[in-house]
Amino acid sequence: MTLLQNYHRLPVQFVKAQNTIWEDDHQQQYLDLSSGIGVYNIGARHPEVEAALIDQAQQLWHLPNLYDNALQEKVAEQLGGQNYAAYFANSGAEANEAAIKLARIATKKATIITFKNSFHGRTYAAMAATGQDTIHHGMPMAAGFKYATFNDIQSVEAIIDDNVAAIMFELVQGEGGVIPADQTFIKDLAQLAHQHHILLIIDEVQTGIGRTGTKFAYEQYAIEPDIITSAKSLANGLPVGAMLAKNNIADAFSYGVHGSTFGGNPLVMRSAIATLSVLDTLLPELPDKVKQMWSHLKLLQSLDSVIDIRGLGMIIGIALHPDVPVAEVVEKLLFEEHVITLSAGQNTLRLLPPLTLTPAEMKTGIEKIHHILQQYKND
Ligand SMILES: Cc1ncc(COP(=O)(O)O)c(C=O)c1O
Repeated sequence: MTLLQNYHRLPVQFVKAQNTIWEDDHQQQYLDLSSGIGVYNIGARHPEVEAALIDQAQQLWHLPNLYDNALQEKVAEQLGGQNYAAYFANSGAEANEAAIKLARIATKKATIITFKNSFHGRTYAAMAATGQDTIHHGMPMAAGFKYATFNDIQSVEAIIDDNVAAIMFELVQGEGGVIPADQTFIKDLAQLAHQHHILLIIDEVQTGIGRTGTKFAYEQYAIEPDIITSAKSLANGLPVGAMLAKNNIADAFSYGVHGSTFGGNPLVMRSAIATLSVLDTLLPELPDKVKQMWSHLKLLQSLDSVIDIRGLGMIIGIALHPDVPVAEVVEKLLFEEHVITLSAGQNTLRLLPPLTLTPAEMKTGIEKIHHILQQYKND
């Protein structure tokens, strides 16, 4: 045994990827409807990102956070304009760790309210923030987290006290099974937070960078978060995390409070700059693409094996009948149809297609999913 067995790895060796197509070591091609778990939002190895990376690789790879850094400033500007200040890390979990720490320091309060069924990462505070017992493994958790029920405002009201620093949530619970937040719930939540001087932390690690049809999902909920976290697709495949904090609380991270050796690495920042520029060109076409995708998804509605289709933009959950094993469906799609998909939550087939997917690829992808799912019939 050479690798720890903490992942369920399927027996295929991918060696190449270009936009929506991945290739294995037998030159077999696969249609990607996963974006590598929400990372290749603008398609794998986007030519503009590749060119930026090659150029940067010939200049400077690593630069400690001891010097001015124009590349980080550029990404910060692209992400949060003048309203937010950015801190760069290397992953979503790390961005969330920074958010939790900043909220506590800025408010001098300890409690972070999160939600059951949420996912915020596997590091210690992010794991404690995650409202799923299966992620906690019965271990002692970092203190200071309380869990409310998603889309249930009374469950939040019931646990608010004077020691709450922030409410932290995803606008679509991704790993939890693709559960979108209700508009009224988020409006009420923002109002409640405002009344009690509680910060709003939006975890946009999976929903950000165009995934839901806008750069960040919060834009569709008419709220102004105090802190936003981003990662996954921000650098088109290079490891990155970002925490954006409103200027009035950003000061709480004064000199020496937090840091990272690699965070905001020049190669990664060049990649992020190019990724965000490409995203800007894709955003205007997205509402139309999303419409087309959801129109193709209708094909699946009448299947016995499908009990619900939900999501926002290009984060899509196809909830399967309890008798249909989602892991088997993902494998059949991969090996029989050469379509790459994901699972999430309780028996949900999750699609996170690259935003560059063509109408023809949408049609083919959904028809192939239909072909597999129609093999499962109810008695
Ligand atoms: C909403 C959300 N937050 C945080 C994370 C953790 O990100 P990472 O795996 O980069 O640490 C994930 C990963 O799936 C996620 O979906």
